[in-house]
Amino acid sequence: MTLTSTEIAPAIKLTDRIHRIEPSATMAVVAEADKLRSQGADVVDFGAGEPHFATPQHIKDAAIAAIQGNFTKYTAVGGTAELRDAIVQRHAADFASEYGREEVIASVGGKHALFNAIQVLVDHGDEVILPVPYWVSFKDIIRYAGGNPVLVETDESHNFGLTAEMVLKRVTPRTKAIILNSPSNPSGAVMQPEHMTEIIRMAQERGIWIISDECYVYLNYTDRNFSVGALREYRDRMVILGSLSKTYAMTGWRLGYALAPAPVVSAMAKLQSQSTSNPTSIVQKAAVAALTGPQQCVEDMRREYIKLRDHVVKGLRAIPGIKCTMPEGAFYAYPNVSSFFGRSGLKSGSDVGGKLLREAYVAAVPGEGFGTTDHIRVSYATSMGELDRGLERMNKFFAGL
Ligand SMILES: Cc1ncc(COP(=O)(O)O)c(C=O)c1O
Repeated sequence: MTLTSTEIAPAIKLTDRIHRIEPSATMAVVAEADKLRSQGADVVDFGAGEPHFATPQHIKDAAIAAIQGNFTKYTAVGGTAELRDAIVQRHAADFASEYGREEVIASVGGKHALFNAIQVLVDHGDEVILPVPYWVSFKDIIRYAGGNPVLVETDESHNFGLTAEMVLKRVTPRTKAIILNSPSNPSGAVMQPEHMTEIIRMAQERGIWIISDECYVYLNYTDRNFSVGALREYRDRMVILGSLSKTYAMTGWRLGYALAPAPVVSAMAKLQSQSTSNPTSIVQKAAVAALTGPQQCVEDMRREYIKLRDHVVKGLRAIPGIKCTMPEGAFYAYPNVSSFFGRSGLKSGSDVGGKLLREAYVAAVPGEGFGTTDHIRVSYATSMGELDRGLERMNKFFAGL
């Protein structure tokens, strides 16, 4: 007799810790949109969190040269010295930070660097302060380490801004770390340097770690681009997480990094040595080319995102019933769709996102995955043409509710 998978399933005892986390909400939308597409639907994709640009040619060339030159063996776990130097030098040049080779580790994407940092800093029962809305993975990665995310609500009418006062209300003797993510995924909010500095000062006084996710730091549309790395006097309680994914349109290459005190970096390298080992050797060569080569491509993409942002926000605001803050960075708009709740049985961002995908074939990520029920996340990393197609469908969809 052959057992079906559902009959076998109850016998499988998975670990407790795997039940503490959920699959990434953004990946779930991508999967559902892909499924509809495979059935022949013409889906406009505002769901994906990745640049629509191709990786710049000189970066691709460096990877090809690495393959041809047989740079295809294991490297040091935390990346080659060449790459680690390139990371710290780029960061120092752009943000006036000061890190040495022993204070940087290259990982298999920014998410991997974040995962490792949380694993080595957060113990069972530790609290980690997380501003809402938050990027989906923070909560789950904290939980996987046994920590408790402590949420700080931000105010949409103040562009989801975060101040030291708001954070301080959530601090307890168990607070181990505070997560900062500016520019933010999903709201696109950019923190004011003064607010960041105050939070860091407050944290330092209490021995609390700052974990600053700078994945979108180069996609800042204000004239005050800033990294906490500039606050050198606070570096001994600070982890900066960076990524080449968004900056150089390299999401699939998987290269991220952490800048942190040497003992933290060395603990992260120990963990990495027992899981992935080094990031792909070929990708490391490409990353060196990205970080040390011409940076005009970064500025060109940033300027294009600004145009796309202006276009999508204007389009969203023109839809009766939708409110949308002006994102100042990253490539997401975070419209509030709560005025439609109560119509056509809709009760949440999830309901709106689901119906929008199934009926109008527009993929956007429901706010629930980011900790708010009133929103959907619209990624505008796409062409103007796609933005127009999607906005037109959204217009009709919301008018028909
Ligand atoms: C806020 C934030 N941090 C980190 C990452 C991880 O990026 P990657 O692992 O591709 O470097 C993402 C990706 O969407 C993100 O939005």
